[in-house]
Order: sequence, then structure tokens, then C-alpha cells
Amino acid sequence: MTEMTIRPQHAAFEDAEDLGRNESANPTMGDIIAARFSRRGLMKGLLAVSAISATVSPLALFSAGRAEAAANAVFPFPEIEAGVDQTHHVAAGHDTGILIRWGDAVEADAPAFDPMHQTAAAQAKQFGYNNDFLGFIAIPGKDPAEHAVLVVNHEYTNRELMFPGIAVQEGKELKFQPLTKEIADIEIAAHGGSVLEIARAADGGWQVVKGSPLNRRITGETAMLVTGPAAGSDRLKTSADATGTRVAGMFNNCAGGVTPWGTWLSAEENVNNYFSGTLPEGHPETANHKRMGVPGSEYNWGDFHPRFDLASEPNEPNRFGWMVEIDPLDPTSTPKKRTALGRFKHEGGGPIVNGDGHVVVYMGDDQRFDYVYKFVTAGKFNPDDRAANMDLLDAGTLFVAKFNADGSTEWMPLVFGQGPLTAANGFASQADVVIEARRAADLLGATKMDRPEDIEVNAKTGSVYVMLTNNTKRKDDQTDAINPRADNAFGHIVEIVPAGGDHTATAAKWDILVKCGNPAKDGVGASFNPATTANGWFGMPDNCAVDPDGRLWISTDGNNFKATGRADGIWAMVTEGEGRGTGKHFFRVPVGAEMCGPVFSANGKAFFVAVQHPGEGGQEWPAFGRISTFDDPSTRWPDFKDGMPMRPSVVVITRPDGGKVGA
Ligand code: FEO
Ligand code: CA
Ligand code: CA
Repeated sequence: MTEMTIRPQHAAFEDAEDLGRNESANPTMGDIIAARFSRRGLMKGLLAVSAISATVSPLALFSAGRAEAAANAVFPFPEIEAGVDQTHHVAAGHDTGILIRWGDAVEADAPAFDPMHQTAAAQAKQFGYNNDFLGFIAIPGKDPAEHAVLVVNHEYTNRELMFPGIAVQEGKELKFQPLTKEIADIEIAAHGGSVLEIARAADGGWQVVKGSPLNRRITGETAMLVTGPAAGSDRLKTSADATGTRVAGMFNNCAGGVTPWGTWLSAEENVNNYFSGTLPEGHPETANHKRMGVPGSEYNWGDFHPRFDLASEPNEPNRFGWMVEIDPLDPTSTPKKRTALGRFKHEGGGPIVNGDGHVVVYMGDDQRFDYVYKFVTAGKFNPDDRAANMDLLDAGTLFVAKFNADGSTEWMPLVFGQGPLTAANGFASQADVVIEARRAADLLGATKMDRPEDIEVNAKTGSVYVMLTNNTKRKDDQTDAINPRADNAFGHIVEIVPAGGDHTATAAKWDILVKCGNPAKDGVGASFNPATTANGWFGMPDNCAVDPDGRLWISTDGNNFKATGRADGIWAMVTEGEGRGTGKHFFRVPVGAEMCGPVFSANGKAFFVAVQHPGEGGQEWPAFGRISTFDDPSTRWPDFKDGMPMRPSVVVITRPDGGKVGA
């Protein structure tokens, strides 16, 4: 094998966002020149009374020109200063603790972390790399104020940060040692997820319950079942699985969700990166794989494992790109890939029980010019019988969104035999529709979005928040009402309000909550509430959380020194009243890190956040000025010990006074 020269893996992923790009002729509504008008008036009356407005002084909320007071009434914490350094920072009045780090024991018999001599067998029992989504799940019979399960996605691996001696900088790029099977196997074991039983500690923080039988690693080798319409499809059959239903592992699990019955939805995102090689000439999956960006050829595991090599296993990619449902309360349970929810680069999963008992899961497909989806279950949630809900996600209707310039939303069903989803367009069954959900959505004329990342429902108000992180490829003639900026470097947040509060309805309203970026900078076009301080604006919204009081919190990806002069972090975002659109900076990550996974405990007194790839990059930070590697890192967060690399970790934020976070 020859040596390869590549950039740090995350930088490569940025370019990979273009792999599988949407080349359909769908309108971006560039032809709709209709002037965008504020629809706040229309939105009024649709918004239910929120918990926030009930807890805030009416005088502060409703006095004209008192936006700052209104915002501070919702989020009273003292704002932190935006910036970049080697460690994390949180608002005064809060404590932080490191809950778990890459390499820490998850399963009871995990060996101690030895980064100089890591093995796949050790990694498969230890906390994986690049913690992303976090889900807080109550344990039946235990007080969630004291005990719970935290589920964690391990999205991807940074080879240059994980392994000693593997990469050195040459010019502006890293030169890597040849990939070995040992390295590939450690990487496969560092993907997937972790289930952790956690408990409140004597000092008021939280800790992992060591040796808990619930503690479990899910890896790229964990046996999983395929369920729903694509289960057993010929297009999912491989030489290792003649049934088309049994898959090894999950990859690139980014954001996700927690179902009302306490299972974990883990979203497979950039799965194209794991496949390499060339399909046989004229293979029927050629167009399908191209639409998903397969092969992404970032990892080259196919050098050692034929399933990642398209020439050997042309159907293997169809077994990834799904929403995976995992029962964290049963460590022997088999994770299930729920194909009814469609196959694309899944990001968030925002579930809600509708008023009539049907369950709705909102989802985004994180690619430039791809779509927002929702799934509506055929069956109804049974709050008294957990087992009765366990396969609800196998039957129902997948919809894709069309956002009109007049502020209306149409949810269009992706159902085999309806509209263009017929044999004439190459669909022979619902299996084909879900496997090629992107192409089905293209044919329906869905609205091409600016990279839909996380999506969450505010259960207090019924509003749905969609993080659109950026899209620098959108041209002037491709702008539309809901994606109004060309060269959208900083992203925006969309709010969807379902018609009549009915999440199963095919109609909804939409509005832009905020266009992100520096509002003081000409040409950016940011639209934060003027009450936002110089620290309070942000760019590239990625994940979000709604706390138990219905307050929205945003985490970002991409606020590096070059783009914004500030690290990623958490910003509070006011959604109601005079302060609507005000950002307030609460937490920031160390240099090179991305902020992921924000989730609150059930009582709002603990806030868990995931610090992903601390130290990645480095060349854009003048204080370091070169590409960060295991041997030459820009930070050694969180241990700051010689010889110990930077470690992706979960941070838990609490208050010494025992109060709610963000008070
Ligand atoms: Fe994994 Fe779209 O972020
Ligand atoms: Ca993301
Ligand atoms: Ca992210």
C-alpha cells in the first residue's frame, strides 16, 4: 500500500458534504421573487402560551423596547466572553465536571486506557471517539433526579489525533503512515455509541456508575437487525447476509433523539465516507450510490474488510444511512435499523406524541440542498405498556417538506405507487422508496435546504426548531424564502408550527427565528435581536436542546478562529416575546473542538454537553499555527498531562446552589 496524503479527517468531511449532492432539477424557488415579509403576525395565535412567558415578569416581556430585559428575564445567567483558548468556559454560577472521556471504561471488564498501545479489543469496551448526540433516559423505578441512563453517539474518528506517530505535517497537509488493519479495527471499535448508567454524586455533579450491567458499547461490529419496508430487500443482501436483515454495526451516528418510550434514536449520517473501491461497470446501484456520495473513501477500511469495498460488496452501503433504534434499558437487546424512516444522511430525530397518540419524528438530511422529513406512525403510543411501543417505528408514513414563500409548509408523503413514486421512475416497492428516499423526495419537489442538522420539538409550545448550519454553495439565483441568503456561511434557524397544533397534519407554518453570523459585519445579513451582545451572536447552529422549562439552547459547529474568531459552544436563544431572537453565550469549548449533544436532565438541574475532537485543526489559531496531531497537539484537554492526548469528553454542568442550569 502506498502512503497517503490527506488533510485532517474533519476538514475532509467538509468537502465531503458535496459528495452525493442534490443534482435534481427541483426548484429552489429562485423563480419566486415575491418579497419576503415578516409573518410574525401570522404566527401569533398559533403559538401556545409557553412556560417561559408564564415565568417571566409581564412588565419585562411586554414593555416596548425592553428586549434586553426580556431576554435576561428568560436567561438570567451572566454571559461568557466569546473567544478561543485551550480549555472550556461556562457562565459564572455554574460548575463543570468531566463525566467520561475517550478511553475510559464503559463495560465492566474494560482495560485501563493506554493511548500509546491502544487495541481494538480494549477500545470495544472503552468510551469511543467523538461523542456527539447525548440522550438522558429515565430508568423505571428510579428517581431521575438521582439516577438515569445517558446514551452517547460516537460519530467518527480522527486518525491524526488518536494514534502516535501516524501523521506529520508536510506543507499545508498531513502525511500519514500507511493504514494498518490494527488501526482500522480500533477505528471501527471507536465508532457506534455508549450506554452509561449515571448517578448524582455527593458533590452535586454526576458520575458514571462503574460496573453497571446497563453500561454497554455499541460498535461498528455490533449485530443489528433491519426492520420495516426495506428489511429483506434484495438490495440489502450481501455475501455475509443472504437475508438482507442482519447488519454489522452503525457508523457516523451524529445526532438523534429519545422516544417517548425511552429508546435511543441514533442517526447514521455521512456513511458514504466508509466505502471505497469501484462498483462493477453498469451496476444497478450506480445512481443510488452517487446520490449518497458513495464511495466517500475517507477511511479505506476496505483494504482489510471487503464489506467496505464496493467491488466486493456493492449492496453494503444500502445497509447504512438509517435511523437506528436501541433499547438502552436491555443490554442484550439488538439495535434495529428502522427503514420506514428513510435512508439519507440522517442527523436529528425529534420525536413527539401527537394529541391523538400517533408519534411523529422530525428529521433532517445534512447535505447542502437536501431535505427536512417527518415520520408519522400508523399506530398509537401506549403510555402504560412500554413493550407495545417497541415496534411503532416500523409502520407509518414518511413525509418530506416543501416550504412555500407565503410561509406555508406542505408535508408530502413518500409512498410507493403515489404520484411519481412508481415503476416508471424505477420504484418497485416501498423498499425502493425508503432506500432511495432522497430521489423520491427529489421527484416530489421538496425544498432544497441549507444543510438541515438537528431538529427538536418544543413540547411546551409545539414549535419545531430546525438548525440549518450553512451552505456556501447556494448562489444568488438559488435563494428562496426559507433559505434567503446566497453563500450562507453562518446558517439560520427555522421554526415550524404545525397547523392547529397537529403534528400529523400535512400543513404547517414556518418562520425564520434567526439568521446567524456577526450582525455588526456588513454583508453577513444576520438577524439577531438587537439585544444580543457582541458575545451573544453565533454561527453554524448544529444541535439544539429544549430544557424542561421550554427554553431553547443551541450548540455550534464551525466557529473557528478564521470564521468567527470564537470557539464553538452553547448559546441560549430566546424564542418568545420581546426578546425573541436574542442569543446569549453560555459555554465554550477548547480550541479545535466542536460542541455537540446538549441535553438536560429531567429536572433541568444538570446539562450534559459533548466536546468533540478537541484540538482538531490548529493551523487557523495564531497561537498554534500548525496542524494539530497526537504528537503535537494544540491542547491536551481535558487532562493536560504530558503524553496524554486530547480526549473527546462529556461535560456535565450543574450549579453549586443545586438550582436549575441557566438560572
Ligand atoms: Fe454530523 Fe451534520 O453533523
Ligand atoms: Ca451535526
Ligand atoms: Ca456536530
